[in-house]
Amino acid sequence: MKKIIDFEVIEKRSFPRAALLRLHCAQPLPAIRGGQFVQVRVDGCDKAYLRRPISIHDVDYQNNTIDLLIQEKHEGTKALCALPVGANVNVVLPLGNGFTMPEKGDNVLLVGGGIGIAPLLYFAKTICQDVPTCAPTFLLGGRSKDDLMLLDRFREVGEVAITTNDGSLGEAGFVTQHSLWNTKKINKIYACGPMPMMKAVAKLARERGLWCEVSLENQMACGIGACLCCVENTTEGNVCVCKEGPVFNIERLLW
Ligand SMILES: Cc1cc2nc3c(=O)[nH]c(=O)nc-3n(C[C@H](O)[C@H](O)[C@H](O)COP(=O)(O)OP(=O)(O)OC[C@H]3O[C@@H](n4cnc5c(N)ncnc54)[C@H](O)[C@@H]3O)c2cc1C
Ligand code: FES
Repeated sequence: MKKIIDFEVIEKRSFPRAALLRLHCAQPLPAIRGGQFVQVRVDGCDKAYLRRPISIHDVDYQNNTIDLLIQEKHEGTKALCALPVGANVNVVLPLGNGFTMPEKGDNVLLVGGGIGIAPLLYFAKTICQDVPTCAPTFLLGGRSKDDLMLLDRFREVGEVAITTNDGSLGEAGFVTQHSLWNTKKINKIYACGPMPMMKAVAKLARERGLWCEVSLENQMACGIGACLCCVENTTEGNVCVCKEGPVFNIERLLW
């Protein structure tokens, strides 16, 4: 059930052009699925009057906290990354459908590119909790090592393979060029990242007959299916990514 909640920033970690915010609220959190997102109100920024969609990076139900990993893009995300500890943040959550939970016996690969790594951590944690036999592997890609944040957090949850375009960390190249595609048994792929990366992952999945879900980051405004600005043309016609997605099986997409 969707809620509008006032949170407080209780911890902050800054990176070059990004920040990890831990937000605390006084009331119990609603149930959240991996891959769902929040709409954050950007207070005190004249140029960002619409809420910004941000993935839920981690959840702690015991302490009523959620973590958001935010990359500075323009005014809205810059203002969010500049929030100090103690600031209040108004958030609508949880939004969207989230990833489909794998089944016992599945060999799962979670592919993240750039800030698209954000929703994969909490989803992987829910996999480990709900399907303990299904150890997820992460394949994380960035332009350089500076794009790949919080790797220790990911390593606590699963095996981590890395690619960087400049070869500064892991294997050089794109995620679709990593050697694990030829060595690891995989039957389910979950991907989030820049559109060209997700299209390349979807192409590879199709070629190999692998089940694959991707989380789309279409431009959004309302986040609740009212403004139609996030529409994606699918096999079932135009759908709102904020409401019907952001996660789609590639079989539903026309690319
Ligand atoms: C489901 C979803 C999850 C996301 N998760 C994250 C995350 O965890 N961390 C993160 O850093 N970024 C995430 N993004 C991208 C983030 O929402 C945009 O970078 C942000 O809205 C840009 O706002 P801005 O004011 O800095 O930029 P501007 O370009 O000035 O934004 C102008 C308008 O366009 C919209 N917009 C611009 N780019 C995007 C985009 N890529 N996606 C959706 N709306 C956009 C904004 O909401 C705003 O209304 C996510 C996007 C979606 C759709
Ligand atoms: S963002 Fe308004 S309908 Fe999706």
